Amino acid sequence: MINVGIIIGSTRPGRNGEAVARWVHELAAQRGDARFELVDLKDFDLPHLDEVMPAAMGRYEHPHTKAWADMIASFDAYVFVTPEYNRSTSGVLKNAIDFLYAEWNNKAAGFVGYGVDGGTRAVEHLRLVMGELHVADVRAQVALSLSADFEHFSLLRPAAHQEEAVATMLDQVIAWGTAMKAVRADRGRAVGADVSCALRAQG
Ligand SMILES: Cc1cc2nc3c(=O)[nH]c(=O)nc-3n(C[C@H](O)[C@H](O)[C@H](O)COP(=O)(O)O)c2cc1C
Repeated sequence: MINVGIIIGSTRPGRNGEAVARWVHELAAQRGDARFELVDLKDFDLPHLDEVMPAAMGRYEHPHTKAWADMIASFDAYVFVTPEYNRSTSGVLKNAIDFLYAEWNNKAAGFVGYGVDGGTRAVEHLRLVMGELHVADVRAQVALSLSADFEHFSLLRPAAHQEEAVATMLDQVIAWGTAMKAVRADRGRAVGADVSCALRAQG
């Protein structure tokens, strides 16, 4: 059985993201085919990226980076719960992603976006980022609208069809998360080290 981290992509006081992530976690926990854990960026208090070496080198200096790396390494797949800020994901989530490299490689990911238009543009940007990190992102995604799935833009009241959207996205994350575990076990097929090696060669 694989381990899936559900990452809350907002640290904003009064954030909607926490309620969204808890709702996803509650639905996920009713399944018996994977283990799910909430990951709150607030608990890691990461500064703006302050590592000297690029993450692909894997030479982390700071305790906050190592703690974040240990958490992310413990999962086989991720569900990114992302707000849309100015047509993209949040700065705090992008920063947290940028801190690491190998810990993301050869894993799977799904997305729950929320915003005025369902967070779809934030998710599109995250999909580009996933490609760089060798993360297999699934097609199904959940798009929560601030007007249709929240009351007064702040109280989560997802429309009935959204539970099915979460289930479909999780089905795909678990399928690909399981498959990528096999890829990681086969060193000949796992990717990511190519980039790390190239950077090391540059000194
Ligand atoms: C700085 C900022 C920019 C935003 N830009 C967008 C946007 O471009 N598109 C959109 O659909 N919603 C946008 N919103 C609305 C947010 O998606 C919405 O407030 C959401 O609840 C923010 O997530 P959070 O409450 O978990 O922090 C923006 C909100 C903020 C604070």
